[in-house]
Amino acid sequence: MEPPPPPPVTASPTNTLLTAAIVAASYWLLRRLATLLTADADVPTAGTPPAGRTGLSNRVVWVTGASSGIGAATAEAVVAAGGRVVLTARRGELLTAAADRLGGSSKVVVADVADIAAAPATVAAAVAAFGTVDVLINNAGVSTRETGAALGAAAIDTVVGVNFTGPIALSRELLAVWAAERRGEGSTPSPAAASVLAAHRRTVRPTLMFVSSVAAVLHVPLRSAYCGAKAALVAWANVVRLEEPTTRVVNVLPGSVRTGLGITALTATGTYGVTDRRLAAGLPPSRVAERMVAVLADEAGGVEEVWLGHKWPELALLYVATYARPLWGAVARRLAGRYQRELQEDGAAARSTS
Ligand SMILES: NC(=O)c1ccc[n+]([C@@H]2O[C@H](COP(=O)([O-])OP(=O)(O)OC[C@H]3O[C@@H](n4cnc5c(N)ncnc54)[C@H](OP(=O)(O)O)[C@@H]3O)[C@@H](O)[C@H]2O)c1
Repeated sequence: MEPPPPPPVTASPTNTLLTAAIVAASYWLLRRLATLLTADADVPTAGTPPAGRTGLSNRVVWVTGASSGIGAATAEAVVAAGGRVVLTARRGELLTAAADRLGGSSKVVVADVADIAAAPATVAAAVAAFGTVDVLINNAGVSTRETGAALGAAAIDTVVGVNFTGPIALSRELLAVWAAERRGEGSTPSPAAASVLAAHRRTVRPTLMFVSSVAAVLHVPLRSAYCGAKAALVAWANVVRLEEPTTRVVNVLPGSVRTGLGITALTATGTYGVTDRRLAAGLPPSRVAERMVAVLADEAGGVEEVWLGHKWPELALLYVATYARPLWGAVARRLAGRYQRELQEDGAAARSTS
């Protein structure tokens, strides 16, 4: 006699749910792994949706260092996302030309961000441009191409002033303005306008964004003061985020970006005057700007630190330096000699052809 056939295998609802959960989790993990291995940003930043044409439509964004490079591209990206922009730098003619291109959504405030004594007046002028500032992007910066032993005190003062003490002076002033606006004491012509501004401040959370650098973490030769100032900026911002829950604070750490930062970089005798090969091969400033503006628009995403750059070497090394610090020490020692030689060769080649 034949044995009875086995009962048909029917998936229990629990098994089906478990399988679906495993498939979904695997898909999520694989997508994150693919992003980790290929994107030109850290995983949360890479996942931030583009700002679109209206992502910043109710915001006034103040961009320092807006006369060139990342700042100029960011100003364009802000307006493309529907925002209004206040442009600040020292070269007023470049800012005016940019404002002419951007139209009524932009205003110019010429200022030297390293002039700490002028910070209250600079902030007042930026706030007066459109009645308030919702976002300050502290982007102005200057780099170095000189050994720590040779870079002089005046150059160090400039690097620290533009990259650290200047941005924090503007940020401190603006924090006071935002607090006053929340109390209904904003700088407006009438009590009615002050209460409108107070309501705006309650619904639009203000943001401080700091353009630091991978150099805050990846300490490489010829940039001692620059690495120090950029690391200090990140630290200051991280502390203020803890102290000011009503303010969003975002640090941006770009790797090499194709701008004139090498040209103005300070040396013992003046400026480096050339775009070295790593900057020349860097990300376009428009890509950095697009990601920064996307992060600003995506308030709910809550990204607080933005890494941007080519996967190799910058982002890969940033992961190593962040999550395997002792290993980074060994890698840095191996890379340092070649890196320093490259920069010195590029500088010498530029001097010999000029
Ligand atoms: N390019 C990169 O590879 C890279 C990588 C990481 C981080 N970053 C950071 O990105 C930011 C933008 O630099 P970038 O690459 O776009 O170079 P950039 O084209 O040279 O831009 C620097 C900007 O800072 C402004 N600036 C310099 N000193 C100033 C001062 N005392 N007061 C006001 N504005 C001042 C400059 O304008 P004026 O000369 O008209 O004043 C210019 O608009 C900097 O903070 C830089 O450290 C750049």
